[in-house]
Amino acid sequence: SKPKILIARAVFPEIIARLEAHFDVESNQADASWSKAELIARLKDKDGAFTTGGDRIDAEVLAACPQLKICANMAVGYNNFDIAAMTAAGVLATNAPDVLTETTADFGFALLMATARRITESEHYLRAGKWTKWSYDMFAGSDIHGSTLGILGMGRIGQGIAKRGAHGFGMKVIYHNRSRLDAALEAECKAGYVGKEELLKTADHLVLVLPYSPASHHSIGAAELALMKPTATLVNIARGGIVDDAALAAALRNKTIAAAGLDVFEGEPSVHPDLLTVPNVVLTPHIASATIPTRLAMASLAAGNLIGFFKENKPLTPLNPAVIAIK
Ligand code: GLV
Ligand code: GLV
Repeated sequence: SKPKILIARAVFPEIIARLEAHFDVESNQADASWSKAELIARLKDKDGAFTTGGDRIDAEVLAACPQLKICANMAVGYNNFDIAAMTAAGVLATNAPDVLTETTADFGFALLMATARRITESEHYLRAGKWTKWSYDMFAGSDIHGSTLGILGMGRIGQGIAKRGAHGFGMKVIYHNRSRLDAALEAECKAGYVGKEELLKTADHLVLVLPYSPASHHSIGAAELALMKPTATLVNIARGGIVDDAALAAALRNKTIAAAGLDVFEGEPSVHPDLLTVPNVVLTPHIASATIPTRLAMASLAAGNLIGFFKENKPLTPLNPAVIAIK
């Protein structure tokens, strides 16, 4: 008989159809928000799962689902997975890297530009009927071209943002990362390596693109914000929790920095209430990879991981490949 899989969230019908050719599929096309107990109830007799970044797979879920062999995440980030617990339970984890890199870098740039040029704030003003006359400093923001772009986290998406800034907008690009890029990649991105403190002090625009882990929790808090220029903008397209949202809301209100653009939030889809009341922040609901072709490619890669694993023991983008050797 076919392996049984659970698709934990709604997804493109053509992806479900592709999976149904290989598996006994239970899906959640109604896109219900399941509690952990509801997730376990559906996952406990399954061999595999198609998950998204909101589906937490931890030791409790794994203990309740002894049949489970693989969880394929339709996201590049995988902080919803307890990888150590999955490895210990012999469950393979896969993510969806690469296919979203350029789309996500595009969005990082869109959010940067919207933030620096106050696009949503000015649109709200216009829609509210407040635009009665032009004035010399109305919604005056800061320049992108010729400014210094700082990038914290220089993976593939960070490199995509660096290239856009350096080659498209003549920005000076500096970055900080756990490890330094090799010289050829630095030259391609026209990016210079600096320490974190110098990054914070020097950037006119700081974009966060690092993965979330306990080590990156609150990488940007009150102390870091205080080091930034009062004219600086901060953009977070990485993960909620990398920024201390309460500290950021206070910094925006006090003009410690000029503005922020946030696509991700601590405890999302809840948003810190103070962020909703400061005007100098652009807020988007975790959509950096949201184009139809890219979301389709991410879903297709997650499906390909499930199919490759069950057909030939060859997942495409495994995170803990040692599990395959053990099985
Ligand atoms: C989205 O946040 C992803 O990790 O793909
Ligand atoms: C993260 O994994 C990235 O692709 O930047």
